[in-house]
Amino acid sequence: MNTANAAYDVERVRRDFPALQQQVYGRPLVYLDNAASAQKPAAVIDAIRGHYTDDYANVHRGLHYLSERASDAFEAARGKVRGFINAREDREIVFVRGTTEAINLVAASFGQAHLKAGDEILITELEHHSNIVPWQLLGERLGTVLKVAPVNDAGELRLDEFERMLGPRTRLVAVTHVSNALGSINPVARIVELAHARGARVLIDGAQAIPHAAVDVRSLDCDFYAFSGHKLYGPTGIGVLYGKAELLESMPPYQGGGEMIREVSFMRSTYADLPHKFEAGTPHIVGAIGLGAAIDYLQGVGLESVARHEEDLLAYATARLREVPGLRLVGTAADKAGIASFLLDGVHTHDVGTILDRHGVAVRAGHHCAMPLMTRLGLNGTTRASFALYNTRAEVDALLEAIQQVREMFR
Ligand SMILES: Cc1ncc(COP(=O)(O)O)c(C=O)c1O
Repeated sequence: MNTANAAYDVERVRRDFPALQQQVYGRPLVYLDNAASAQKPAAVIDAIRGHYTDDYANVHRGLHYLSERASDAFEAARGKVRGFINAREDREIVFVRGTTEAINLVAASFGQAHLKAGDEILITELEHHSNIVPWQLLGERLGTVLKVAPVNDAGELRLDEFERMLGPRTRLVAVTHVSNALGSINPVARIVELAHARGARVLIDGAQAIPHAAVDVRSLDCDFYAFSGHKLYGPTGIGVLYGKAELLESMPPYQGGGEMIREVSFMRSTYADLPHKFEAGTPHIVGAIGLGAAIDYLQGVGLESVARHEEDLLAYATARLREVPGLRLVGTAADKAGIASFLLDGVHTHDVGTILDRHGVAVRAGHHCAMPLMTRLGLNGTTRASFALYNTRAEVDALLEAIQQVREMFR
């Protein structure tokens, strides 16, 4: 029984997710790999199916009936995203493939317009490879310098060090909102304040934050916010780059092609207005519509009660995991989202993951695309259980039982 959030009917929520109804290896599936990707509610699957069945056509080009319907649905999805993150205007919402593409877009386009050799980009030790490698590629092209603010042993950003490293040459701060490997929540509002006070722009990698808590880009005052649809109960291949309109206006196109132009001649071309300037080619039309349906779904359940439910699960899991002899929790930040990373004495994380899988418990094992963070913590990797709105305390119990089995096998 979920005492912290008694009104939250998790069993009802679970019934919305067809994939959760199955068994694996003869046991009920316990899906705890949500930080990698979340399962999809029937509402999203139905929206995708419905669009392909009835309304499908290319967007923005056709004058015909279906194309107009498809364009309306695609732009309506953009409006849903805008409302969801409280952006000021629809043109601040650029549809991309995912967080990775959003960050690469900023690196290439903001980089070209606003950065030069010797300018500094400040990230943290908590970053996913997607928020490290694009800045390294940019450094190779432009000669920009990548600086990395440290974390403490609990996996919390050292804000004092971060502030010290914000120098006169820092032009961009790029930080994760929530660490995918440890669950640590970064104090992003304070980070934005500190960075803006020094004249630096801020990109927030929201891949792990967006499914778990309300994000308000206007009150955060961040310059860019990036996230993926698939971690938000929506489809893969669709994601969002939010950018302040005046900043996006100041940046050149990322890719050239159809849709992003105003006029083309063999001599030169002029570009479309925002957001289309950054959406070259046929977009993932149905992906955007599916993402809109996911947002509707999540808002229907209520993000606040989802957040409370996941906090309760994390607290319960943390307390139970702490009781296991030989188990060490990795990442004990005071402010954490629903991610529990751990090590079992004498057992390789991959063996833990494989044995848990045979008990029907899906987790992730390894470096979680955060190799520099693992190196900082002196680890090769961890086993990671990550929670979503449909997980239950009983599933945490199943995880614990499976961990006991691992311990017995390796005794
Ligand atoms: C913090 C963080 N940033 C970026 C990404 C990359 O997201 P995607 O693979 O959807 O582009 C992930 C995915 O795990 C992530 O957790």
